[in-house]
Amino acid sequence: MTNDDSFVSSGHQPDRVYIFDTTLRDGEQSPGATMTLQEKVRLARQLELLGVDIIEAGFPAASPGDFEAVRAVSATVRNCQIAGLCRCVAADIDRAWEALADAAHPRIHVFLATSPIHMEHKLRKTPEQVLEMAVAGVRHAASLTKNVEFSAEDASRSEPAFLAKVVEAVIDAGATTVNIPDTVGYSQPAEYGALIRYLREHVSNIAKAVISVHCHDDLGLAVANSLAAVEAGARQIECTINGIGERAGNTAMDEVVMNLNVRRDHYHCTCGIVTEQIFPTARTLSHIIGMPIPANKAIVGANAFAHESGIHQDGVLKCRETYEIMDAATIGKTGNDMVLGKHSGRHAIKAKVEELGYKLTDDQITVVSDAVKKLADIKKEIFAEDVEAIILEEIFRMPD
Ligand code: KIV
Ligand code: ZN
Repeated sequence: MTNDDSFVSSGHQPDRVYIFDTTLRDGEQSPGATMTLQEKVRLARQLELLGVDIIEAGFPAASPGDFEAVRAVSATVRNCQIAGLCRCVAADIDRAWEALADAAHPRIHVFLATSPIHMEHKLRKTPEQVLEMAVAGVRHAASLTKNVEFSAEDASRSEPAFLAKVVEAVIDAGATTVNIPDTVGYSQPAEYGALIRYLREHVSNIAKAVISVHCHDDLGLAVANSLAAVEAGARQIECTINGIGERAGNTAMDEVVMNLNVRRDHYHCTCGIVTEQIFPTARTLSHIIGMPIPANKAIVGANAFAHESGIHQDGVLKCRETYEIMDAATIGKTGNDMVLGKHSGRHAIKAKVEELGYKLTDDQITVVSDAVKKLADIKKEIFAEDVEAIILEEIFRMPD
């Protein structure tokens, strides 16, 4: 039993949302996202800088590689809780505990499915047997540490009354975090929020545990569902960097965190993420797994702070907030980007010309602007080099 209970639910502040990063576990289940042990340790270090509360480092009983990765991350990271995932069986729990031996703040995370379809077809167990297994597993984990999370796999397709019964029983058995996953990404935000409210109203000991959410993005609603759950009282969000994960992925960390930050007026919650590390972390993961960040992805995509339309460029140059709800610097990017194209106006072109070190008259800017638009009709993107070539050709070319 570890004596370190400073990280468990008893000290939880009502408006603090814990960020549980599962890039190294669920994220690695993303096709093509396999990482070596060294890469996992490198990413874990970056997650520590980012300020996540919990790093799920792997599933120790799943493979020797996962066991070693959980061990290595446990020995390296000091300022985050380290979770090891296990099925609700003693052998898995013991293996996870062994892998977590060097962790400063270990967490055992056990999961068991509670939906009719999973209980009948996958587990081949009755609801009574599942309830018994859940309690026995959590009790065993709680005999090793005070920091125990229980996940009711496929919770969003479970019978709410049975789910409430299981949640109440596992809290009595020692679970300090109860996770309510939308395992197959089926839920709608209002429904998911209602499920969290239902549990808060029907589980008598719910105040003893932190309610966690874990959403998959099959219908593109993982972030919306996670935020609806926070509005309903959930205080841990499970997520991954760039939203990678099984099938369509998990809740994207950058998106939920920036929603909580930008719309603090709406959620009235805080989290411990150092937002300036969001973009560097997204790039680190992208380099490690060789998976580019989609250009149009919210927050960390290359276009997220880029302005092409002349009206928008003019507005942003006069007052950034006209077309930007966050400052690129808050996520660790050097600044916004004025993309020159056929929709660009004189103001953006003038700004680019000055950035390149040229001082041109209004008439010369008009010449450059017309040439940029002509070029933009035949070329997708105009780079600084193109503008410079236009200036040299149209303004400074010596007569033949
Ligand atoms: O999606 C899911 O239900 C999971 C659990 C193991 C938490 O990944
Ligand atoms: Zn999952």
